[in-house]
Amino acid sequence: MNAELIYDNKKINLNVLTGTNNEIAIDITGLRNDTGLITYDPGYQNTGSCQSAITFIDGEKGILRYRGIPIEQLAEKSSFIEVSYLLIYGKLPNRAERAAFSERLSLNALLHEDMLHYLGNIPPTAHPMALLSNMVNSLSVYYPGFYVEDYNNETFNMMAARLISKIRTIAAFSYKKSIGEPFVYAREDLLYVQNFLNMMFSSPVKSYHLDPDIIRTLEVLLILHADHEQNCSTSTVRLVGSSKVNLYSSICAGICALWGPLHGGANQQVIEMLESVRNSKLSPKECIERSKDKKNPFRLMGFGHRVYRNYDPRAKILKEYAKKLLAKRKVVDPLLDIAMQLEELALSDDYFIERKLYPNVDFYSGFLYRLIGIPTNMFTVMFAMGRMPGWIAHWKEMHDSVPFKIGRPRQLYIGEPLADYVPVDKRK
Ligand code: SDX
Repeated sequence: MNAELIYDNKKINLNVLTGTNNEIAIDITGLRNDTGLITYDPGYQNTGSCQSAITFIDGEKGILRYRGIPIEQLAEKSSFIEVSYLLIYGKLPNRAERAAFSERLSLNALLHEDMLHYLGNIPPTAHPMALLSNMVNSLSVYYPGFYVEDYNNETFNMMAARLISKIRTIAAFSYKKSIGEPFVYAREDLLYVQNFLNMMFSSPVKSYHLDPDIIRTLEVLLILHADHEQNCSTSTVRLVGSSKVNLYSSICAGICALWGPLHGGANQQVIEMLESVRNSKLSPKECIERSKDKKNPFRLMGFGHRVYRNYDPRAKILKEYAKKLLAKRKVVDPLLDIAMQLEELALSDDYFIERKLYPNVDFYSGFLYRLIGIPTNMFTVMFAMGRMPGWIAHWKEMHDSVPFKIGRPRQLYIGEPLADYVPVDKRK
């Protein structure tokens, strides 16, 4: 199948590519060489940057699958470690593979002792995402020997395990640092999620009860955040990684991109938005009106999505989870009531209906993080912890697709046609 482009009385044939689920794409890889033309697509809303076998999203139908497996099945039946392996290595691990992967993560739970001195000098008031990006990038300082040229399976496996395991330790240590408590180290007898909870909430004077509901909730949160194809931060990891810089630095770039309030930073913004609504006594109706007013900076955070033109399947799962778990624990979170009223009003409002704006993954995740006891300013760190395997999987997929090209988009120049240098005493 192909497409025809007629330009300047010339007919150009363009190949059409078809994806697994019949998505189609016009292949313009030769366009500029053949015609001198480039395409123009700010925000890459219509541009595919790669072919990938990791995650499939159908935005119209609200479908999300990791390596073909529906997110609903993985959220119900799998674990974050299994899903990490699935995303990175392309298949669910058998028992031996799962045990070896888990073992590699356990062996990499510690931070280099010199990293602790580095961490010790970061102000306790630093935003956890600023601290996280600093510490992850410092992995390339404390764990050298990762140059892409010698990128082979063992080197990669070790780097991947370090990142998945150490982001958990960095997150827990950053929390302990912010509350002035001593670091709690990972335990050999605990699995990934249990270890994180214990590192966060136990202390030398108070043990932490590992509640099965809370453990499962955190597993589900991490699974749901594990990958989402070419979102802003994953595309950043691919673009930075395409220069052949090491995995740690590529991931650090992804963490910085995720922090933005339009992206992973939205989960913190949602709770802060709901708190401001509650404190300002604004009615949900007034909020909806404000969020539609272009002159008003108020936005309904956690709503809308570049790809989903339907309910984000992750939001659906998280909403039900939050309602069930709060009810089971007889917790009344007034912010959840406000959120559900806002959702109900938005979903029946023409402005949102016309623009196909639905709750996204960030709209309900905060309620579960609150229930677990995660401070609001750490919500995006939790998002990064979940997204780590997805970022790694995409970096690996790109490096496995040799030869890959360095990412370097073109532009349309609209500046001065030609200008001369003006000596400073002649300038206005
Ligand atoms: C994530 O890409 C991914 O996969 C991301 C993610 C992942 O897992 O990696 O799913 C995670 O980042 C989820 C999104 C979290 N961000 C937010 O919740 C922030 C609030 N949402 C918006 O800022 C916005 O919806 C985006 C950023 C999510 C999407 O932006 P787009 O695709 O560029 O859409 P747009 O801003 O052009 O909006 C289209 C229209 C505009 O109105 P018009 O100009 O057509 O009149 O919809 C309006 C927007 O003003 N709109 C909103 C709105 N989101 C879009 N109006 C009010 N409130 C909102 N939240």
